[in-house]
Amino acid sequence: MSKIYHKRLVNADSMVKEAHKNKYAIGHFNINNLEWTKAILSAAQETKTPTIIATSEGAMKYMGGPGTVVGLVNGLLEELNITVPVALHLDHGQSVEMAKKCILAGYSSVMFDGSHFPYEENLAKTKEVIDFAKKYEVSVEAEIGSIGGEEDGVIGKGELGDPKQAGEMAKTGISMLAAGIGNIHGKYPEWWTTLSFETLEELQAAAKMPMVLHGGSGIPQDQVKKAISLGISKINVNTELQLAFRDATRKYIEEKKDLDDAGKGFDPRKLLAPGYKALVDTFKELTGWFGSQGKA
Ligand code: 13P
Repeated sequence: MSKIYHKRLVNADSMVKEAHKNKYAIGHFNINNLEWTKAILSAAQETKTPTIIATSEGAMKYMGGPGTVVGLVNGLLEELNITVPVALHLDHGQSVEMAKKCILAGYSSVMFDGSHFPYEENLAKTKEVIDFAKKYEVSVEAEIGSIGGEEDGVIGKGELGDPKQAGEMAKTGISMLAAGIGNIHGKYPEWWTTLSFETLEELQAAAKMPMVLHGGSGIPQDQVKKAISLGISKINVNTELQLAFRDATRKYIEEKKDLDDAGKGFDPRKLLAPGYKALVDTFKELTGWFGSQGKA
């Protein structure tokens, strides 16, 4: 017999609009498994933070598929009694078909990343996703320009967004717009110094809507705050959580706690506990910077 879920996912539209109006940013956190999902949802509830949890196509496939992700998230919303607004978002959906598949599985928000297509094709495909998403009240994120670096096989050259395209995309009915502004997925290389705030200002003047900062790991706090003041309303974080988890797990193993057989240090629930705590702490630190804590 099916179970009725009382705690519902919401789409990201009103979250990012509120954030845009009041100059803070919603954190988008990529998940990989149970520990990631539970840590983020628990920390969001504890800090009263509206939150977007996301899967790349790669993470979604790793976890089994969109149905597994939706089941996991809905189950935790219910059983952890999560009452803050939570959206489940497809990150960098590469095709219209993938966006539709996730919408039908129960995602409440999707990114259609058509930045690898010629611009006119990106625009047309984004509109197709919006037409479909509307029927299910699912929010849509589009991308112009591209984010530098590589994430889960999605590679971008880092072209800056074009203000004319930003203005056009803004009229399609998207809830949020991602653009290349000198941001890079993964660890920022040594030579990198700054986001292009000039580009962000031009894009915001043209689009006048919530914009998304991808590659949110490792950007200095003053730059994050400046970006928010210039119209960034959603910040995507993946690598920073992975590094925090790695460091905490490494410490546990280097201290040989996993070899404490008498104390069952090998129990995965013990082995993964320091990493879990590091995820919670990183969420709290970053959403503190973003200004989204206490906004639920
Ligand atoms: P980072 O891995 O650099 O935090 O980027 C995350 C991201 O932009 C997801 O879309």
